[in-house]
Amino acid sequence: MKSKLPHVGTTIFSVMSSLAVEHNAYNLSQGFPNFPVDDQLLSIFKEQASLNVHQYAPMAGFPKLRQEIAVKVKEHYNREIQEQDVLITAGATQAIFATIQALVHPSEEVIILDPSYDCYESPVMLSNAKSIRIPLSNDFLPDWDRIRSAVNSKTRLIITNNPHNPSGRTWNLSDFNELQALLNDFPNLYLLSDEVYEFITFEKQHISTHQIDGLKDRAIIVSSFGKTFHITGWKIGYLIAPPLLMKEIQKVHQFLVFCVNSPAQAALATYLPEKNLYELGPFYQEKRDYFQSLLRKSRFQLLPSEGSYFQVASYEQISNESDVEFAIKLTKETGVASIPLSVFNADGSDRKLIRFCFAKDNETLSKAAERLCSI
Ligand SMILES: Cc1ncc(COP(=O)(O)O)c(C=O)c1O
Repeated sequence: MKSKLPHVGTTIFSVMSSLAVEHNAYNLSQGFPNFPVDDQLLSIFKEQASLNVHQYAPMAGFPKLRQEIAVKVKEHYNREIQEQDVLITAGATQAIFATIQALVHPSEEVIILDPSYDCYESPVMLSNAKSIRIPLSNDFLPDWDRIRSAVNSKTRLIITNNPHNPSGRTWNLSDFNELQALLNDFPNLYLLSDEVYEFITFEKQHISTHQIDGLKDRAIIVSSFGKTFHITGWKIGYLIAPPLLMKEIQKVHQFLVFCVNSPAQAALATYLPEKNLYELGPFYQEKRDYFQSLLRKSRFQLLPSEGSYFQVASYEQISNESDVEFAIKLTKETGVASIPLSVFNADGSDRKLIRFCFAKDNETLSKAAERLCSI
């Protein structure tokens, strides 16, 4: 059979996680927390699950949950949105898939900035469109000259990710100004803004597309409850889009999933207004600082981590193997699993960098760091 996605194999996240299990390694590879979920969320979930919330939810999501999201958007970004601007999705992944399928036509182009998260390219290919992979600068911020020279009248979408996975970098206001100028020059270009780590930033406050006039009305902004509430397995998130785009995205959404898990939506509608999301940044900053302090004695060099729950490290002083070889060896021989950065690059370029996830309990971080300091 002829594959529609011939280049796609098992993702590196599954490969490294199963290697971690096989070799009994500390798993700092895949981006998920290993500490318990908030008791308050669990008790709300149990309570809601005992009620009549087990049939199909409304297609776009429970009104109460969509309204509570609008309240948070106002509180954090001072943007007024309505319930109908919000679509509840089966995680950010489905939001991104539905958006690309709805908006990108055959032979159009989509700009993806490398290193990039792995769920962007396949939906572009399934639309018979072309992904244009543009490397970020060496500091993992956008290279606006390269981006601008790649955009043309066929470019339908630019996908951005801030705070950035895998690097942990966050954008500056000047990046938004450049993007705004680009969208001004190309009226058919839309922005798909992946902000799943929006509440996990450290010294610098997160700047959201929601806050940028001239961008927010041309943008689909994607968020993930999985990241915000340490519930990646619930696979629930949302997107916010202007009415004309939302209408098209919902056409795809209704045939992709129709609606999203009802008990999870009911629980989140009650839990979300109870939570102070400003607490998430300091919570993860403590973990980042702890992990960084432990690794200071190692031969790894740590790159800046300004947001997300990832720490990129250079192993240049330890080995000159390729990053994939090094990450595999580190799992098998040292007992710590990580993700090599080259897998996020279309051209496979390898700068001898690996990514650690520090969304782990302190015992895991300290035991893993002890092993990392031993090489
Ligand atoms: C940048 C980025 N976008 C999207 C996702 C997918 O989020 P979800 O689990 O809500 O589908 C992830 C998950 O790791 C991610 O890191």
